[in-house]
Amino acid sequence: MITTILLLALSIGIAAVSSLPASSLQARQTWTLGYWAHELTDFGCKPIIFIWAKATIEPGNMGNTVGPRLSDGLKALFGPANVATQGVDYWGFIETNFYPGGAPPWGIFDMQLLVNAAATCPDSKIVAAGYSQGAALTHRAIEGLSQEVKDRIVGVVTFGDTQTLQDGGRIKDFDTNRTLIICNSGDLVCTGTLYVFPVHFDYVKWVPTAAYYLAGKLLADAAVRPWPNGSFVFPNVTVPAPLPPIPPPPQPSTAIPMSLPPLPTPDGIGSPDTSALFI
Ligand SMILES: *[C@@H]1O[C@H](CO)[C@@H](O)[C@H](O)[C@H]1NC(C)=O
Ligand SMILES: *[C@@H]1O[C@H](CO)[C@@H](O)[C@H](O)[C@H]1NC(C)=O
Ligand SMILES: *[C@@H]1O[C@H](CO)[C@@H](O)[C@H](O)[C@H]1NC(C)=O
Repeated sequence: MITTILLLALSIGIAAVSSLPASSLQARQTWTLGYWAHELTDFGCKPIIFIWAKATIEPGNMGNTVGPRLSDGLKALFGPANVATQGVDYWGFIETNFYPGGAPPWGIFDMQLLVNAAATCPDSKIVAAGYSQGAALTHRAIEGLSQEVKDRIVGVVTFGDTQTLQDGGRIKDFDTNRTLIICNSGDLVCTGTLYVFPVHFDYVKWVPTAAYYLAGKLLADAAVRPWPNGSFVFPNVTVPAPLPPIPPPPQPSTAIPMSLPPLPTPDGIGSPDTSALFI
């Protein structure tokens, strides 16, 4: 079922982004500097608002792996001045993975605050993404938003998603056609456990896939609800051109590893074998 969602989402995404400039993602510019981004709260509405939830223990509110690169990917495609990147400010400790739903309440609250704020920008289109504990945060934040605000989110990507199994390979109460869950083969956090192996740290390779997926959703939405004239600093995003090759779709984890010991409860934090418990 998860495979179907991934393949369906990817094929739709690939079809939709066939109008993006060819070499956009090959540029090696970096616009997302440092570990922090507050571009929505500091500078206000932009045509595209990108909200990111980092993984456990990553620095700042962007982290230093997938987050800054995905931000830069969107900026490469749409122009740096057209994207407001905003990280969710939350302390993502190992222990906070054990909150019900996999993320701490204050982080969920902050992400909802940010998406609700973004939705007050009349002409902006919102995309969101999260990694690991940040993926759980993304599930919990988005499912609790009003339908009106959900409708303003045109695409969501999660990486190494700790809620993949629990939520049936989707974000509950949110359009599966706007959701891409990326799980490496063998990443056990995608199968309902918190056992972390090296594949859980190997998600940067999916950044182009995610950037093109979100770009496809943005352009598909813009075809129905165009950005008003003058919104874009560089109105070049609809120039038809061939796409660079898109990596093969991810292989989601398959079976639930029933032989693993039961997960520790929040009361049991500290007692599990922490050599395998590091998200
Ligand atoms: C899914 O989204 C794409 C745009 O990204 C759209 O073309 C397609 O019609 C949608 N499919 C469904 C079933 O809504
Ligand atoms: C936007 O610009 C295009 C091309 O310059 C023009 O055809 C169109 O009428 C404009 N739309 C609005 C709402 O101003
Ligand atoms: C597209 O961008 C190029 C520079 O990259 C610029 O010369 C050109 O005028 C832009 N096209 C439009 C329609 O603004």
